[in-house]
Order: sequence, then C-alpha cells, then structure tokens
Amino acid sequence: MITVSDLRKVYQQGSKDVVALDGVSLEVPTGKIHGIVGHSGAGKSTLVRCLTLLDQPTSGTVAVNGKELTNVSAAELRNARRRIGMVFQHANLFDSRTTEQNVAYPLELVGTPKDQIASKVAELLELVGLSQFAKAYPSQLSGGQRQRVGIARALTTDPDILLCDEPTSALDPKTTDEILDLVKELRNRLNITVLIITHEMHVVKQVCDSVSLLAGGKIVETGEIETVVTNASGRLASTLLPLPGDAPRAEGSGPILDLLYTGQQATEPVISSVARQFNTDVNVLAGSVEQLGEQQYAHLRLQLNADADVDAIVNHLTSNGIAVTVKGAK
Ligand SMILES: Nc1ncnc2c1ncn2[C@@H]1O[C@H](COP(=O)(O)OP(=O)(O)OP(=O)(O)O)[C@@H](O)[C@H]1O
Ligand SMILES: [Mg+2]
Repeated sequence: MITVSDLRKVYQQGSKDVVALDGVSLEVPTGKIHGIVGHSGAGKSTLVRCLTLLDQPTSGTVAVNGKELTNVSAAELRNARRRIGMVFQHANLFDSRTTEQNVAYPLELVGTPKDQIASKVAELLELVGLSQFAKAYPSQLSGGQRQRVGIARALTTDPDILLCDEPTSALDPKTTDEILDLVKELRNRLNITVLIITHEMHVVKQVCDSVSLLAGGKIVETGEIETVVTNASGRLASTLLPLPGDAPRAEGSGPILDLLYTGQQATEPVISSVARQFNTDVNVLAGSVEQLGEQQYAHLRLQLNADADVDAIVNHLTSNGIAVTVKGAK
C-alpha cells in the first residue's frame, strides 16, 4: 500500500517559488494499479521523485505499507527504497551487458552471492518472458523486449511497489498492450501495488483500477475507474469515454442530453424505454460504448423532441443509475 499525505514540493527558480506539488494526498491499496494523469508541468515527475525521496518533499509524508519514508535515517531510506521498483520510459540498459547481466546489476551492487543472482535472474527472465534472450545484448532486442528487461531489473529486490513513469510512451500500440498485459499479470502473480504515471488515456483504460488527475500540483479528481467514468461533472469522464468528433446537429430544436452509464445499464434498452414511456422520439447524435476492464461503459448524446418532458425523463434516467447532463436545445 502507498500512502501519500499532504505532499508539497516548492522549487526555487531564481527569486521566485514554483509550487510543483500543492498538498497531494493519495492512497493506493495493496495489489491495485493506480494511474496518475495530467498535462505537462502538472507535477507528475516531481511526484515520482518525491515518492522515492530522490527529491526531498518540502512537507508532507510518504509511506509504503504503513512505514514512513520521510524522516528516516539514510540507511533506513536505502532499505525502504528497495521496496520500490522503478520503470521508466526508456529502460536505460548497459549496452555492454547482456540481458541477464543487466538484470543482475542491482543484485551485484548489494553484494548478492553469485549463485543466488543466477537463480533470481533466471526466475525473473522467465516471469517477463525473456528466457531465450538471456545472452542477447540490448542492440539485439526490440523496444518492447528492452522494456521487459527494465521491468525484470526493477523486480530484483522483490519490491512491494512498482512505480512506472511513462512506461509505454516510447512503444507502438501493439507493444504497449503487451507491456500493459505484463504489468497486469505481474500484479496478479505478485500482488504488487502499481503506480503508473502516464499521459495516455489508453493506459488508464487498459490496466488501471483507479486514477487521479493531477493539475497545477493538485489532485483535482480521483477515484475508481467506474466512479470517474460516470461522474458527469468531472473532467475524466469525457476524456476516458470521448464522443467521436462534433456530434451532428439534428433536425428540430429538442433538448440534448448526455448520458454516462456503466455495466448492467449499458445492456438495457435505455433509448427504447424512454421513447415508449414518455411517448417521444429519441435521436442518437453520438455515442461511444467501450469495455474497460471487466465493465462495459457508455457515453451517449441524445436529442429529444422539442416538447418532451425533460425533467421527467432526466428523473427516470437518474433513478436507473444513469448520470445525465442536459446540454440544452441546439
Ligand atoms: N528541479 C526543479 N527546479 C525548479 N523547478 C522545477 C524543477 N523540477 C520541476 N520544476 C517545476 O515544477 C513544475 C512541475 O514539473 P514536473 O516536471 O513535475 O511536471 P510533469 O507533470 O512531469 O510534466 P511533463 O509531462 O512535461 O513531464 C513545473 O512548473 C516545473 O517547471
Ligand atoms: Mg515529467
């Protein structure tokens, strides 16, 4: 479990203060995959550096499995850092070392006996599906394979936390999905807690259980995927389930409703039930239905007849667990 409480980081740029993190609090339960998304300059990299104490936070605390990393001795911090594995956009492998030698490196650094290194490296290469590339050099590997080496190397200390900073940003879509599948599989096998910093919504959709939106050093929205996707007033719903392009204008001037809903409701005949019960036409202007994780989600833009009883229809939909925003008549 990762617990971050009221984390602040203020940098000095010349004579002025730059507040990079402004009171960030976050809890990721053991075995969960949490995404952090945000625009450039939002504070994502600062958060990663403060989580690992590579950068000293100005104030606030970071704890892994209840053990605080802030305010501990240098020796304790070195040990605590071993509980956190790091994966970056580029694996930064040693060109002169083979796959197995790259993975062995962190173990050599702490003086692990040779036979223990050999068995640990073999186990990790098996885990990330690279056993047959043990003797290959980085120049002989694809980008996705190099990233697998990086992941194996991050796991050498049996960490409780895997911290991934833009792990798939340099990969093509197919390789991205393979790496994300691997992260999910590792979580399932090792019950490791994963924090993924990303600017790609696809990553959040593909693997995250929960997500936080970072803006201006603050978490402005956070929650499980199911909750944020159906929160019509939040910013994440429309980025996770965007409507394709500009919704086409319909004939007439009826009110427009945006519907966000999940799971069971997505398979129920929402449109026909409104049409039947309220004796009105329902025109679908745009829609997107996606499977995220185990759940199906829908984002629909509907136009009703100009004389439709909007309040009654909104009440009906809301009481069926559907989040509705009235966009007004166009
Ligand atoms: N070492 C530093 N000294 C001074 N200011 C810094 C330092 N590191 C970051 N900042 C400032 O803190 C803010 C957050 O930067 P950060 O690198 O965390 O953003 P980011 O979300 O990672 O952006 P990107 O997506 O572009 O990587 C920015 O305004 C940046 O200028
Ligand atoms: Mg960054």
